[in-house]
Amino acid sequence: MSATKVGVIGCGYWGPNLLRNFAENETAELRWICDADPARVAAMGRRYPAARTSTDYQKLLADPDLDAIAVVTPVATHFQIAREALLAGKHLLVEKPLTATGREAEELIDLADRSQRTLMVDHTFVYTGAVRKMKEIVASGELGELLYFDSVRINLGLFQKDINVLWDLAPHDLSIMDYLIERQPDLVSAIGSCHIEPGIENIAYLMMHFADDFIAHFHFNWLAPVKIRRTMIAGSRKMILYDDIEPTEKVRIYDKGVTTNRVGPDREADYQTLVSYRTGDVWAPKLDSTEALRHVVGEFLDSIRSARRPLTDGQAGWRVVRLLEAAQQSIKNGGQVQSVQ
Ligand SMILES: NC(=O)c1ccc[n+]([C@@H]2O[C@H](COP(=O)([O-])OP(=O)(O)OC[C@H]3O[C@@H](n4cnc5c(N)ncnc54)[C@H](O)[C@@H]3O)[C@@H](O)[C@H]2O)c1
Repeated sequence: MSATKVGVIGCGYWGPNLLRNFAENETAELRWICDADPARVAAMGRRYPAARTSTDYQKLLADPDLDAIAVVTPVATHFQIAREALLAGKHLLVEKPLTATGREAEELIDLADRSQRTLMVDHTFVYTGAVRKMKEIVASGELGELLYFDSVRINLGLFQKDINVLWDLAPHDLSIMDYLIERQPDLVSAIGSCHIEPGIENIAYLMMHFADDFIAHFHFNWLAPVKIRRTMIAGSRKMILYDDIEPTEKVRIYDKGVTTNRVGPDREADYQTLVSYRTGDVWAPKLDSTEALRHVVGEFLDSIRSARRPLTDGQAGWRVVRLLEAAQQSIKNGGQVQSVQ
C-alpha cells in the first residue's frame, strides 16, 4: 500500500512535534512543510530535506498528489485553512481547539461529511497512556456511580497574545472529561480575570452542572508559582487521582469513600444518618509511555486508510468548542449561568 502523503502547515512551537511524528511513521510520507515565516520553514526544511517547503499553504492545496494536511497554526486561522483544505479534497488533522466558534466547527463537520474526508482534532491528552487507562477503569464501572470531575491546570506562562487561558488550556481537560464520562453538561458558568493583558483572561474558574448530581470544576491559570496538572474523578466506590507531573505513577486509584445508612427515627431527628468511612488500598496501574502524538498521527493515518471516523472526530472537536464558547460568554456576563442545550 502506498504511503499517505502529508503536509504540515505551521511550524511554530507545536508543529515540529507533528512533523517528527509524521516523518517517523512508516505509513506516511512527509511531502510538504509550510509556515508563513520563511526562517521557520527553512529550519524545518533542513531537518527533513526530502520534503518540499513553502510559505504559502495554497501550494499544498494545489498539489493533487497530497492526501492529507495537518493545521498547526493559531486558533483564529484554523477555520479558514481547514475549510479551504477540505474544499481541495484533503483529509484533515486540526490542532485543538478545532475552531474559534461552534458554528465554524459545524461547517467543517458538514464539509468533511459531504466530501467524505477524514476530519480529526488533535485532542492530544485522549491519546496518553494515563487517560486511556483511566477510560478502561471508568468504563469497567469500578468507580461506582460517578460523582464529580475536578481539574487544575496551572503554571507560570506561556502567555498567549491571541487567546485567553481558557481557550489555551481548557481544551485539554474538556476533551479528557468528554472522552472519559461521555456526558454533556446542561449548564456552564465561569469567572476570569485579566491581570497582564487587557481583555485576555490569564485565570479562569469553570463550573459545569449536569442533569443529575454529577458536577465538574476546573481551574486554569497562567500566573501560578507552581506547575500543577491534577484531576480527581470521584465515584461512589473508588476515586482516581491523575497527576500528569508525576514521572511514573501518574494515575492512582483510591479505594476510599463513605457509606451512609439511615437509621431511626429517634428523638432528635426523624432519621439519623450514620456515616462510615472506608479507606482501602491505593494502586497505580502500569501505563503505556508511548508519546501521545505518535498515537494521534497513527489514528489519523489509519482512519484515512480504513475510511472510518477517528476517535477524536469533528464532533468531539465541536463539543469542546461549544463548551468553551459558553464559558467565555459566562465570563463576559460576570459568571452568569449559560445553557449549553
Ligand atoms: N495539542 C497540544 O498539546 C498543543 C500544544 C501547543 C499548541 N497546540 C496548538 O497548536 C496550534 C499552534 O500553536 P503554537 O503554540 O505552535 O503556535 P505558534 O505561534 O508557536 O506557531 C504557529 C505557527 O503558524 C504559522 N502560521 C500562522 N498563520 C499561518 C498561515 N496562514 N500559513 C502558514 N503558517 C502560518 C506561524 O508563522 C507560526 O510559526 C494552536 O492551535 C495551539 O492551540 C496544541
